[in-house]
This record gives sequence, C-alpha cells and structure tokens, in this order.
Amino acid sequence: MVAQPNAQVVRLGVLGHGVVGSAFVKLVTQQSDQILARSGVRLEVTKVCVRDAKKKHNLPKGAVLVTDSNGLVQSADVDLVVELMGGIEPALKLISESLGKHKPVVTANKALLAKHGVELFAAADAASTDLLFEAAVCGGIPLIRPLRESLRGEPISRVMGIVNGTTNFILTKMSEVGADYSVALAEAQKLGFAEADPTADVEGHDAAAKIAIIASIAFGTTVRAEDVYVEGISNLTAADITIARKFGYAVKLLGVAELDATTSMVSVRVHPALVALNNPLAAVRESFNAVLVDGESSGSLMFYGRGAGGEPTASAVLGDVIDAAINLRKGTHALLGAFKSTKLKEMSAINCEYMIGLEVADKPGVLHAVTGVFARNGVSIRAAEQDGIGEDARLVFLTHDANEAAVQNCLREFKSQDVVKHVGALLRVVANS
Ligand code: NDP
Ligand code: HSE
Repeated sequence: MVAQPNAQVVRLGVLGHGVVGSAFVKLVTQQSDQILARSGVRLEVTKVCVRDAKKKHNLPKGAVLVTDSNGLVQSADVDLVVELMGGIEPALKLISESLGKHKPVVTANKALLAKHGVELFAAADAASTDLLFEAAVCGGIPLIRPLRESLRGEPISRVMGIVNGTTNFILTKMSEVGADYSVALAEAQKLGFAEADPTADVEGHDAAAKIAIIASIAFGTTVRAEDVYVEGISNLTAADITIARKFGYAVKLLGVAELDATTSMVSVRVHPALVALNNPLAAVRESFNAVLVDGESSGSLMFYGRGAGGEPTASAVLGDVIDAAINLRKGTHALLGAFKSTKLKEMSAINCEYMIGLEVADKPGVLHAVTGVFARNGVSIRAAEQDGIGEDARLVFLTHDANEAAVQNCLREFKSQDVVKHVGALLRVVANS
C-alpha cells in the first residue's frame, strides 16, 4: 500500500458478489494503490453482501461477508454503496435508503433504472448525492457519461446500436458457423454474459431496459422499459439470416431511439433489424456492443467495446465509484438533469423498408395473390426473390419505405390466405449504408 498523508478513505459496501460484484471487488483491490495515487482517495471494501454465505467467496483482507443487505446500507463503516445484485426488490429499497442517508450509490442495474430511474435520479438530487450507473448500459463502454456530459449541449437526432451481448453472440454464431440457437445461448450463459433469466436477453427486454435509459439521457425524456416496443430474436432462423445476407444485410438485434423532427416525438424500440453489410454495426461480432449517436453538430459518433462480462462491467463500475468517492470527499455530486414526460411515437406510425419472407404453395396465381396484398395496403415492393423448397416455394420481398401499420395489415392478410403456409420473420431495415 502506498503511504500518502492526505489519503482520504472511502469505505465501500458491495451488494452482490456474482459475475460483476466479484470482478469489481478484485479490480478495486488490485488497483487500490493506483487509484490512491491518481485520485487521492483510498477505496476500501468493508462489507460484501450475498444471499448464500455458504458459497465460497474470495474477499480482500478487512472485508466482511454478510447476508443482511439492509444492515450493510445502514452500517457506519459503509460510506458508499455499490449495488451489483440485480432485480427490482430489494435493490430499489436499498438504493433509496442509501440515498436517503446521503450515501452515494453506484449501480449496474438496468432493469431497476429502466423502471424507477427517474424517481431515483430525483431522490439522488434531493439528497445532494451521487447515483451513477455507467455499467448499466453496455458494460465497459463509456456511453452514459459522454451522453450526460460531453454531449449535454448537442441536439441528438438518433441513438441506435447493439446493446445486448448475449443476442449479438448468438446471432454471430448462427450467421458465421451455422450454430444452433440453443447451443449458442448455452455458451453465452457459460461465459457469464446472459442475465440470470436469459429470456430477458433473447426476448429483447434487457435491450429495452438499456435503450430506455439511453433515450432518457439522450432526449431528457422519461422513458421506461414498458414504453419500449420490443421484439426479440427467438423466432429468427438461420434461413432468415442467410436470406438477409443475399440482399446485402446483416441481422442485428438493435435498440433504436429516434427523434421525429416533425412531431418532436421520440420512437424507442428494440427489434431484429437489417443493417447494410458496409455499415459499422454489421461488423460488430460476438458479445461486443456498439452504439451510434447522431448529433446535429457532432455528426455520427460510434461507441464500441465489451458490453457484457464481469471484468469490462467492473471497469465501468470502478470509474463511477472513483468519481462518486471524489465527489463525496469534496461534498459535491454529479447533475443528472431534468426529465420531461412526453408522449412517445407509436410503433404503428414508423416508416422504413421491410424484408418479409413467406412460404407459399408453388402453383399458378400465388404470386399474384400475395403481391395483391401489398398493393391493397399501399406497400411498394423494391426487390423479390423465389426459391423452391420441395413442393412449396419461399418468397422474399424487400419493400420500399412503408408504414408499419400497413405492413402489419399485410402480415394479417397473409396469415389468412390458404396459399401462404408460413409467414416468416419481419425484418426492418435501419441502415442502408
Ligand atoms: P449474478 O447473478 O452473477 O450475481 C448476483 C449477486 O447478487 C450474487 O452474489 C447474489 O448472491 C447476490 N444477490 C442477489 N440477490 C440478493 C439479495 N436479495 N440479497 C443479497 N444478495 C443478493 O449477477 P451479475 O453479476 O451478472 O449481475 C449483477 C448486476 O449487474 C445486474 O443488475 C445485471 O443486470 C448487471 N449487469 C451484468 C452484466 C454481466 O455481464 N453479467 C453486465 C452489465 C450489467 P447469491 O449468489 O448468494 O445468490
Ligand atoms: N445480459 C447482458 C448482455 C449483460 O448480454 O448484454 C450486459 O448488460
């Protein structure tokens, strides 16, 4: 330990010692001297809370393993609370209590922030203390702080990107080595990317929580996970990915938050999307995340890196902890800004190009019947392709810019047509270059 006469000790209580919590405790211990030398603050982990204390945990000297989470928050030897347990309760109560006691909080809990973030930000401001959450969005990638600070004065028109490592890992494996969906998911779970319940990843809810937080910060608007339109990847097949590639696109699960300049409404959504193969997002592989931010003066900015996993996430947590510790010692805190309540743009009102795959009977008049549906709904076809599959055929259509409600009407009509055997995944084009 480096001796420094003016060292100011900040004692940390860590809630959770799983994938992220254990990586954080290890990192803070390893980096202790360097943190002290660079910031003048000595971080000491005094308490670590888990549910099951019988499991083996490697803790640094002086840290005590506890199971009483409320006791940790109240403890006189905890100055700053690091919440890495996940879930809504008891995390919400514990964070609220910490803030109420003027103890700064650092959290990676996107599910909680996407539901109760705005109330918690207000509670932090009211208590004049920090609530920092860089790790909640895209693991180790600095994104929240650039949005909150560097781009504070920048009118942002769109933020979109790959914000879930598990699904990007699965899609990469399906597209590059033809891996089976469930095998790729099991591998992501083994590597520690997936949520405790991986449904949150594959059905898009984890991405929805992250894009809700991003949209709130980028547009100063209250957006909750439940406001986000969500489709996951569980219905995608290897065939959808192969066909998309033939048309020049990669399939990515994207979070999109976009300002409609005419109505000033924000559209916030998560769905599998088509990205032109020459777009930088198409090259983002494995569990990596990448987010493109479009600002009026800044132009397009890309943030890329490891969005999941213990160590990258712990790195983001540590950056916040150091800031909060310095602020605590200075008696100041970061400003999270004001959030207005605005009506979000309905999914049915968006316009884009679409790829639609249909399995149909291969007989005279079928193409006419199917294209008639598009014509009746005012949806114009840009490209089409037909492949034989036994006695049937697979038709793939790429549309010109079309309205979501009109395309959904087409899908309903296809499902009621006898000649249509199966309506495949609907893929929206979000980037043509
Ligand atoms: P884990 O499931 O690996 O770890 C959770 C930890 O919290 C465990 O030590 C668990 O103890 C403890 N815990 C859970 N509930 C309680 C409770 N009620 N009381 C006391 N201890 C409790 O989760 P992760 O580390 O993966 O995730 C933690 C947080 O970080 C989540 O909010 C997650 O969304 C977020 N996150 C995770 C990333 C990742 O890549 N894993 C990336 C970015 C954010 P026990 O084991 O004894 O049950
Ligand atoms: N389950 C999340 C993911 C962890 O796969 O991206 C990081 O938030």
